[in-house]
Amino acid sequence: MNKVLTSAEQIDFKISDLPAMPAPSKVLKVKPTWFDVEYVINPHMKDNVGGVDKMQAANEWEHLVDGYEELGFDVEILDGVKGLPDLVFCANQSLPFIDENGNKKVIMSSMRAPQRRGEVEVIEAWYRKKGYEIIQLDESKIGNLEGMGDALWHFKRRLLWGGYGFRTSLDAYDQVSKALNTPVIALELVDEKFYHLDTCMCMLNEKSVLIYEDAFTEAGIEMINKLFEKVILASKYEAEKLFAVNATCPDGKNVFIQQGSTDVNKKLRDAGFSVHEFSTYEFMKSGGSVFCMKLMYW
Ligand code: ARG
Repeated sequence: MNKVLTSAEQIDFKISDLPAMPAPSKVLKVKPTWFDVEYVINPHMKDNVGGVDKMQAANEWEHLVDGYEELGFDVEILDGVKGLPDLVFCANQSLPFIDENGNKKVIMSSMRAPQRRGEVEVIEAWYRKKGYEIIQLDESKIGNLEGMGDALWHFKRRLLWGGYGFRTSLDAYDQVSKALNTPVIALELVDEKFYHLDTCMCMLNEKSVLIYEDAFTEAGIEMINKLFEKVILASKYEAEKLFAVNATCPDGKNVFIQQGSTDVNKKLRDAGFSVHEFSTYEFMKSGGSVFCMKLMYW
């Protein structure tokens, strides 16, 4: 089943109707050795050029590695590359998946900002070593695609949620849907501070999601409400200033989130999730936090 859906009326299935997909159990992290804010490609980076405390960034990054290891995830670490300061946000260069026959495949990104294009080949070379089948979409047809910054798998189901507007182009999802043989729910993003879907939507488990509502159109909100039983809402302050929605819930139970998101954390705990707070202040200067500082793969 492949198609791109843009309104709730087009959705003629329930989550439970969709084929299952195993959740990824491995985590890739890229060392922040060369991380800094060197250019401005999102509003959060403004005023932060050259302003990263490298020691602090390294500490924050190490704590996250420890966190995944404590949960039992297998963490692989890749060296950073000089001149590619945003490579630490290794969710963005690709969209990995496992097909119906268990084959590992990956769609490589086509980054919007020229400053980030060189990151894709670094991650691609790593996938080759891992034995993934590499899929390159035709850039002249798709526009841009920023991997798991905008394209998020529904937890354990063959359904993709695809953000578009600032980085990824809507046109990309047609080919993505075909390559994945999976429907894509396309969500238009309307606030430039929430330029990637992972800044305003966090998959929690099959039935629950955390979102920042004002980053979406009405049509988007209707689709989210149609498919999730529980939609937890983040406040503007926590979503924008603390990147509360750029959290991650790798196992459907434990949530890793930027520290201080008191309101979201209470809602998560009330809904039965275990919350683990991390400091990602240095990375927030570049417009990213917990979710995009890692790649989950099989
Ligand atoms: N400076 C990076 C950029 O603007 C940050 C990327 C953060 N990634 C994310 N998925 N939110 O591209």
